[in-house]
Amino acid sequence: MRFFSENIESLRELYVNQLRTMLSAERQITDALPEMIDKATDEQLRQAFQSHLQETEVHVQRLEQILSQPSKSDAIKCKALDTMIDETESVVGDVEDDSVRDALLIAAAQRVEHFEMASYGTLRNWAQILGESGHAQILEQTLNEEKHADQLLTQISDKVNPYASGTGRATAA
Ligand SMILES: [Fe+2]
Ligand SMILES: [Fe+2]
Repeated sequence: MRFFSENIESLRELYVNQLRTMLSAERQITDALPEMIDKATDEQLRQAFQSHLQETEVHVQRLEQILSQPSKSDAIKCKALDTMIDETESVVGDVEDDSVRDALLIAAAQRVEHFEMASYGTLRNWAQILGESGHAQILEQTLNEEKHADQLLTQISDKVNPYASGTGRATAA
């Protein structure tokens, strides 16, 4: 049950509410990625996580810039991210095979990227409708980086998943 609620009466207020939720999401991703780098075995996957961690730190800064209030309390906890990270953490420790663990980490990361792509696509459109073309450009930049991260993960999964299924080992020289 919610004891305190904010009145959201306009698209602008909803826009700010969702930006603050994404600020929480991006901060959670910044916290989760170092552990994913640690757990990943494939070198290309580790590098992809590492470079997306750097991009994610910029995603946080961009949202702080749009909100122009970089204080921690301005974020509204993103429960979706909290749950996604929690679900992955609860399974990853049970996986013994390195390639199967990599396949899990890729799947978990792509789930997050698709969540971010949907969220930033909406926020970019709302920014345009609200006449915030500067915001729209910034949000589009982040959206493109999420799409790129997702595409790169698909490429890496094409290499990792056959190993995870056992078919990669048979063909490896
Ligand atoms: Fe992001
Ligand atoms: Fe991302």
